[in-house]
Order: sequence, then C-alpha cells, then structure tokens
Amino acid sequence: MQLYFNPASPFVRKVRVTAHELGLSERIELIGIMLTPVSPHDALRSRNPIGKIPALVLDEETVLYDSPVICEYLDALAGGGRMFPAAGVARWTALRRQAIADGIMDAAVLTRYEEAVRPKELRWQDWVDAQFLKIRTALDSLERENLADAFDIGSISIACALSYLDLRFASEGWRTSRPRLTEWAAATAQRPSLTATALAVP
Ligand code: BEZ
Repeated sequence: MQLYFNPASPFVRKVRVTAHELGLSERIELIGIMLTPVSPHDALRSRNPIGKIPALVLDEETVLYDSPVICEYLDALAGGGRMFPAAGVARWTALRRQAIADGIMDAAVLTRYEEAVRPKELRWQDWVDAQFLKIRTALDSLERENLADAFDIGSISIACALSYLDLRFASEGWRTSRPRLTEWAAATAQRPSLTATALAVP
C-alpha cells in the first residue's frame, strides 16, 4: 500500500498512528508530497478527485480517502474491532470523538492556510476568529470528557489534533485552563505509535 504523505499533516498522522497500533506500518510505503489548496498535486488529484491527503493506494484501481475511511479500512485489515469498536456506546463515542478532533484539525489547517498562504491584503481576521472559536469550544468539551476510558480512533484523532496545535499554534496555549486534557495528552504522547510518527515541518 502507498500513502500520500506530508510530515506536517495531522490527518496523515492519524493514519500512520492507526497503522502503527495495528502492526501494519511496514506494509505502507510513504509517498511524500507538498501541496496547498492553491498548489494542488497532479498525481494525487488523478487518484483522489478532491486532491487531499491522506490517500491510500491499494492497487491501480483502488484508492481510499479520507482519514476516517482509511483508518477503518486498516482496522478491518487487522481483523476489525480494534481501533474502531464494533458496536454500541463504545463505537459511537469513538466516532464522535474522531469527528470533534477532525473538526479541530479542519479549523486549524484552514487557519494555517489563511495565515501562511493567503496574500496579506486578502486576509480576513473575523474568519480566523471564527475558526478559533470552534477550536476552543471543542477543546473545552474534550476537557469535560473521561478520555482515559479507551484507546481507539477517537483517542488517536484527539492526540493528532492537539499535537498539530502545538506545531502550528503554540502561542494559543491550549493547555491553559485544561488540566485534564493536558495530563491525558502527555500520557498518550508516550505511546510508541505517537513517538514514531511525530509531526514535522517539511
Ligand atoms: C501544514 O504545513 O501545516 C500542513 C501540511 C499539509 C497538510 C496539512 C497541514
């Protein structure tokens, strides 16, 4: 399998952490690419019409995207029910947590593009503020959850979202007034799957 990859993408990291947890990392070849919304990557676009990473190439005809689909595919490949609980409250909790963390990543990545890619004269501060309101509200809701109850796709997604905030928005200081989330993130960051896949600026 080949994974379109950028070392700063938290969505790609989700896939890599999931693969590591499932013992599948060795079966995935990374194809490093650079892209932004205004500088798409042609080879990727021919395989994922939306042109986004991660995209996982299974064979010439089969390409999977985006991160929730790829991660669930990997879980099924490893036997199923490991990072995606099979049913019941555990499943819906994991999927909801994945959704909230993906929402944080979406808002953060869009803000990163706004600040790093959009020409200065076209920037819109109200829009950035609205993205940060989403991020802060989501973090406050995670602070109220008992995240230590499981380690699954919800946990993986949250860990990747928090470390992307550290990479690109350290000055936001998300740990301030969120002691439970801070403690959970520090403990989770020690897992081999997370230490082996640290985000990096290309
Ligand atoms: C970043 O550089 O922050 C980034 C790169 C690829 C995907 C998402 C974010």
